[in-house]
Amino acid sequence: MKKLKIDLADRSYDILIGRNFLSRLGGHLSHLKSVRRALVVTNPAINKLYGKALSEGLQSAGLAIECVEIPEGETHKTLQDAQTVYNHLIENQYDRNTLLVALGGGVIGDLTGFIAATFLRGVPCIQIPTTLLSQVDSSVGGKTAVNHPKGKNLIGAFYQPRLVAIDLDTLSSLPPDEFRAGMAEVIKYGVIEDPKLFAFLEKNSEKILNQDTQCLETIIETSCAIKAKVVERDERESSYRMVLNFGHTIGHAVEALTSYSQYKHGEAVAIGMVYAAKLSCQLGYCSETVVQKIEALVEQFGLPSRLPEFPVSEYIETMYRDKKAHDRNIRFILVKDIGTVEIVDRVAEADLQKVLTA
Ligand code: NAD
Ligand code: GLY
Repeated sequence: MKKLKIDLADRSYDILIGRNFLSRLGGHLSHLKSVRRALVVTNPAINKLYGKALSEGLQSAGLAIECVEIPEGETHKTLQDAQTVYNHLIENQYDRNTLLVALGGGVIGDLTGFIAATFLRGVPCIQIPTTLLSQVDSSVGGKTAVNHPKGKNLIGAFYQPRLVAIDLDTLSSLPPDEFRAGMAEVIKYGVIEDPKLFAFLEKNSEKILNQDTQCLETIIETSCAIKAKVVERDERESSYRMVLNFGHTIGHAVEALTSYSQYKHGEAVAIGMVYAAKLSCQLGYCSETVVQKIEALVEQFGLPSRLPEFPVSEYIETMYRDKKAHDRNIRFILVKDIGTVEIVDRVAEADLQKVLTA
């Protein structure tokens, strides 16, 4: 079992990375001394796969366990779904000594974290991420949210979990396209911070896609360590944490224009990274070789690299509407070299148009 620590003063916590340890999780909850009851939030399919082992682990810590199932999918990351859980908590007289446990991918993790941040003004939460994307990204760092009909993640809070427990065995049941989508965020870490990770991905794509144990450990541990370092430096995204959004400006537009139904989040980010690199090259931040390397790695992992066809004006208007745009300025994370990026607040619309039509 590997243990990383994310150091955020009184909001610090451990990230555990191991295999087949959900039924033994109790031994890692001793810091949650006042907790008496745990409510697991998950979806029916994940519950069937991992609910029993997790319940055993929580019971071994002396906790009384109940579970609420939310239907599967991004369309169930809403206030209405949060209400289902609030209702259960209130009707069953849960108090502040309650632990919320997110068992699932980023949808369950974001929803459960948001409920933990708001129920009784905050109860402890632990994250048990079961997709690659949630293991390397969404479970770490305390961004929680639900969607609004007008946009994704518009209602949320920064609220750190008290533990992230990553059981690599859960990835064995993950559909291959979900695994590949998670790889986009791993590639992102290579581009923003770590040329060695990028080279490792170039060299080991086949082994990684076959879920070779050692490769999985390396990429998940390295990704979590990078994310922890970024969040420690800028927990609430006042500046530096924005580097984690590399590829997301165009990626979010791809998701929005295709009504969140054609591309998985990681797939849209993959396209966004390629076009952010092209923009960087056009503006003189990086060489054509850097663009080719990013595009080639994205394709090596079976991820899309071409923009779906929409008028450029629609792309640009969608980016202006993004919650991270302000005063008609679209922020981009531009790449200078593999492992080095820069946050650029003003990119001229004409430059963006040129890249989107290329
Ligand atoms: P997801 O949670 O929808 O999971 C994808 C699919 O895999 C679902 O159908 C789920 O039921 C299934 N699944 C999950 N684990 C499984 C397993 N072990 N075996 C078989 N099937 C399994 O998608 P995701 O990609 O994990 O997360 C996407 C969400 O994460 C989005 O809502 C996005 O906004 C959010 N996100 C949040 C952050 C953050 O920092 N909080 C970062 C990135 C993404
Ligand atoms: N996924 C981006 C962030 O956590 O900041």
